[in-house]
Amino acid sequence: MILNIAAFPAEILRKKAEPVEEITEEIKTLIADMIETLYNAKGYGLAAPQVNRSLRIFVVDRNGGKSVVREPEVFINPEITAFSGEIIADEGCLSLPGEFAPVKRYAKVTLTALNEKGESVILEAVEQRARALQHEMDHLNGVLFLDHLPSFRKDTIKKHIKRRIQSGDYPQII
Ligand code: NI
Repeated sequence: MILNIAAFPAEILRKKAEPVEEITEEIKTLIADMIETLYNAKGYGLAAPQVNRSLRIFVVDRNGGKSVVREPEVFINPEITAFSGEIIADEGCLSLPGEFAPVKRYAKVTLTALNEKGESVILEAVEQRARALQHEMDHLNGVLFLDHLPSFRKDTIKKHIKRRIQSGDYPQII
């Protein structure tokens, strides 16, 4: 089932998400729906708070959503355990559709999490993939890419969104 994606400034996007205690059938359904929603929106990654569930789960496409082959990866209760270097590149978010800005991130991260089967996984990622993991991790802590920008740039994007809302050129904030 395709889920509604919460758009900035929806409050859910600012909440710290709760850990998943057990991978129940309900959680499995949520994960399947998140994957369907991610590909439907042609995104790179999607975190549970973006579909109005305040849980520490995100899904990322292994190929950055750029390949015809869909390779979704699921991360439950993830933690970034090591990081190094830095990269700056344009970043966007399904919860701020059409808005992009350069964001500084670590160039390399190590992530530990559970997969959808409840198995522990450790992943090392670099560049774009490392960026995606950091972006989705942020969502679980109520942080958006906007928060990494200098205040003048953040204000410009906020004003732009306000104008878009007024002109009806912005998704429903749910
Ligand atoms: Ni996002």
